[in-house]
Order: sequence, then structure tokens, then C-alpha cells
Amino acid sequence: MIPTSLRWVGDATGHLKLVDQTLLPARIAWVACHDVPTVVEAIKSLRVRGAPAIGIAGAYGMVVAAGEAVRAGMPTDKGMAHILARAEDLATARPTAVNLRWAVERCVRAIDAMPPGTIPVRGIADMLLAEARAIHDEDRRLCEAIGRHGADVLPHGGVLTHCNTGALATGGAGTALAVITTAWDDGRRFEVFADETRPLFQGARLTAWELVQRGIPVTVLCDSAAGHLLKTGRVAGCVVGADRITANGDTANKIGTYALAILAEAHGVPFYVAAPSSTFDLSLDSGDQIPIEERGSLEVTHPLGTPAAPEGAFAFNPAFDVTPARLIRGIITEHGVIEPVTPDRIRAVLGTAS
Ligand code: MRU
Repeated sequence: MIPTSLRWVGDATGHLKLVDQTLLPARIAWVACHDVPTVVEAIKSLRVRGAPAIGIAGAYGMVVAAGEAVRAGMPTDKGMAHILARAEDLATARPTAVNLRWAVERCVRAIDAMPPGTIPVRGIADMLLAEARAIHDEDRRLCEAIGRHGADVLPHGGVLTHCNTGALATGGAGTALAVITTAWDDGRRFEVFADETRPLFQGARLTAWELVQRGIPVTVLCDSAAGHLLKTGRVAGCVVGADRITANGDTANKIGTYALAILAEAHGVPFYVAAPSSTFDLSLDSGDQIPIEERGSLEVTHPLGTPAAPEGAFAFNPAFDVTPARLIRGIITEHGVIEPVTPDRIRAVLGTAS
């Protein structure tokens, strides 16, 4: 069992270490990120993935950027310019999960808030490491609270989840997966179903792996089997994570989530989203405004590296879709459960009501 899939090694000129999630469940290998291009590559290629985890990686990426400036002996003005340029590379590494830009911008704001005067880049690096660690620690606590609030509302009976929302995807126990594991740790016993989550199999490779590591029985199904499973009545509730939630509650999450929400509604099964407040983007009114990442065709035509479509076939590969708020029974946050999912309720629970 991996307590954390990301860790910082050494002082502010050290490096970021992360579990290469592309290799799971076959083997656990760590990637050492000593420069920003390595962090950006790890985010783009999903070696680190999951909205909160890429936010944390982005924050530590800012420390890596500062470390580059320290090692190059840059004076403050050049070092600042270097860090800010790297901030943009980090924030734009993936477009859909808002946590990435949120975390990088929080680090930039922390630089802006430093006392006026010339601070050596080493001082900036120290401050950025403290900020990144704070983001990481906060996420750990948020996961705990989400797990607790979610376990209290999770319907009794089988649970179906999509993608991976556990320790690998966050700085703590997870979001949707923490809801499941917290309910399990409370002594409740129920069937856990995990959609395999094509095309990159985060459900089969990562969620099932995390649950097996914890000794929680899990049943993996093809995404296309979800409708039939729901029809059998073996699932009392669905719970998934989120990459971005807009002011009206529309939720971007892993491709396939929208179809699952429609199936859940058709079968009268409550559909919950679990996410920290850092996943909300209240600057957007609705899910139509969320940028949806399109990924390369090989992920579809060559699943797990094996050719599954003829040479010359094209592929449609959006990494995320948007589930409209009306299909979501409740959004489980660290502050409590937003139910019903309305703009007013969202603002009230997040404490942003004007
Ligand atoms: O492309 P991925 O694997 O980064 O997508 C991850 C998801 O869609 C998760 O469900 C979401 O980020 C929530 S993680 C707690």
C-alpha cells in the first residue's frame, strides 16, 4: 500500500519523486523530477494523474523551477522571470482539471505576497516548498473529510465507481474512493464495482489495485457493462470524482462518467460526485465552458500498447466529459454534501455566498 504517490526529497533545491502510474499494477517504480520539463512530461503522460494529484505535482513543480534558478545562480529578477515562465508551462500541462492551475496560481500568489525588497531566489524556493507542502497536507485533510461526509450519505448496498479517485489520484486517501473505503472502515460490507475506464484503464489498473492492496474485494467490469449491472439492482449508489465543477454544478470527469450518470438516472440509482473545493471553478457558469482535453489516437487504437483497430482507422479520444448538474444527487466536499446541486447551495456550502 502506498501512503502517498508523490513526495518531496531534500531541501528546497531537492526534487519531486512520484509513482509512475503508467506502470501499475505490473510494477511500482518512482520517477525523480529534477527539472520542470520532467514534471510537465509526467503530468502530460499521466505518470501522475487525478485532479488533486496533478495540482500537488504542479505546486512541487514550482519548487523545482525555483531550484533550477538557484542552481543556475540567477539573481532575483532573472530567477523570478524563470519561475513565472515555468509556472505557465506547469499550469497548461493538462487543460481540464482546474486543480492544476489553481495550485500553480496559489504558488504565484505566495510569491507576490512576499515582503517587498530583494529576496534571493533561495528564499523564494524555501517559501515555495512551504506552500507546496501546505497544499499537499491540506489535500490529505480534505480527503479525510470528504470520506467522512460521503460515507454518511452513501446508500447501503453495492457501489459503482469510475476511473481512479484514490490515494494515487490525491494527496491523501482519495475522494470518491475515500467515501468507499471510509464506509468499509466503518464496518459496512458491500460489493464494490469498478468500471475498467477505457481507454487508459484507470479503474482496472489503479482503483482495483488500490482496493486489492487494502483487502477490499472489488469487481471490475467493462464500461459497457454498467447499464446491465445497474439493471440487476446490485448497485445502490454510484460515486465518482471530478476534474472541474462549474458554478451551476456541471461536472467534468473521466470520459464515460456522463454515460454512467444517465444510466444511473434511468435505473433510479443515486449518482454522487466527490471533490474538494479546489476542483470548483466558480468563474465558469456552466459545463459548456470547460475545456475538454483530447488525447492521442494510439490510446484508443492500441489499448495497453496492443493494436486493436486496423492501420488507418481514426480515433475519437476525449479524456473527459461533462455530467449536467441535474443528473447529480449530491456533491460531497470537505465542507459537507451539496444537495440538491444548485448554484445557491454550492455557494452556501463552499462559503462563497455573497
Ligand atoms: O485522466 P486522469 O486519469 O487524470 O483523470 C482522472 C479523473 O477523471 C478522476 O476521476 C478525477 O481527476 C478525480 S481524482 C480524485
